[in-house]
Amino acid sequence: MEYKRLGSAGLKLSVISIGSWATFGQHVDEATSRAILKVALDGGINFIDNAEIYGDGASSAAVGNLVHGLPRESLVLSTKVFWGGSGPNDSGLSRKHIVEGLHKELKRLQTDYVDLLFCHRPDPNTPIEETVWTMDNLVRSGKVLYWGTSEWSAQQLTEAYAVARQHHLLPPQMEQPEYNLLQRRKVEIDYLPLYPLMGLGTTVWSPLAAGALTGKYNRGEAATRTGFDAAWFKSQRLKPEDLARVSLLLPIADGLGCTMAQLAMAWVLKNPHVTTAITGATKASQLQDSLKSLEVVPHLTPDVLAAIETAVQ
Ligand SMILES: NC(=O)c1ccc[n+]([C@@H]2O[C@H](COP(=O)([O-])OP(=O)(O)OC[C@H]3O[C@@H](n4cnc5c(N)ncnc54)[C@H](OP(=O)(O)O)[C@@H]3O)[C@@H](O)[C@H]2O)c1
Repeated sequence: MEYKRLGSAGLKLSVISIGSWATFGQHVDEATSRAILKVALDGGINFIDNAEIYGDGASSAAVGNLVHGLPRESLVLSTKVFWGGSGPNDSGLSRKHIVEGLHKELKRLQTDYVDLLFCHRPDPNTPIEETVWTMDNLVRSGKVLYWGTSEWSAQQLTEAYAVARQHHLLPPQMEQPEYNLLQRRKVEIDYLPLYPLMGLGTTVWSPLAAGALTGKYNRGEAATRTGFDAAWFKSQRLKPEDLARVSLLLPIADGLGCTMAQLAMAWVLKNPHVTTAITGATKASQLQDSLKSLEVVPHLTPDVLAAIETAVQ
């Protein structure tokens, strides 16, 4: 495994990490979750990504149980606040919800602090000063080590940075955008000025486009997602034009002697602005397969990258 600094921060994250959304607490039984976590830790993954909304807290609670007893310093645990429930103060980025959402997550994760706390989405109904001030307070209190955002626009991030600088508060250190062969704009274009300006790190999500980039749907396999996730998956991930792109990528993976998942993951890891790619798995064998993408990265020569570019354009 390789480890990379989170932007200009000193914290180091494994370049492949695991998210709890599909993997822990709701879609997968406990024995399988344990097997996936073992593959992750044996493979050198040190970062587990969580959010208060995943399984309405069930995913974080499962992670808390699974990592209980492991040395805390060997793990980087995150959570994200924004969607905590349906009451008037159970969502958004008010001081009240951020603090209460974090406290609930600390209990579920059975820890005194999270390494990373993300604002899961921007909140147009809360002054940015209130959010930045609250995050600064939480870092100073020791309950959070670094704070950041998820799916904020470059403009919103710049505003948060300016507010922090103006009031001598800690600015956001990392952003969590989607980044994969089918979804590229924020990481490759929008945030470009922010990497040097803010020392911004990125913990990108869905490197495999939730499975669409593994090629299995081109082979006619049925999606495993259920309930709300199933409808979302079908409309957002199985678009015919995206599956057509994947069909053009499959021969490139064959030519490299790797799986389509490994090609997709290696391509994400090749981007120097990616600190870590947060993947998911519902079987231990999937994560074993994805971890081997580290061996594929050196084979992404300029010619291979050009062929990939042609396939996805
Ligand atoms: N900040 C945000 O707004 C946001 C949004 C979404 C996700 N996230 C984070 O990102 C994490 C990962 O998201 P994701 O689950 O969409 O990641 P992903 O890595 O793009 O997709 C994971 C899915 O791909 C399939 N898969 C994984 N490895 C495979 C392999 N080697 N071969 C074949 N299939 C494979 C599995 O699908 P099947 O289960 O169908 O087999 C697995 O559930 C989440 O847990 C969460 O922490 C953040």
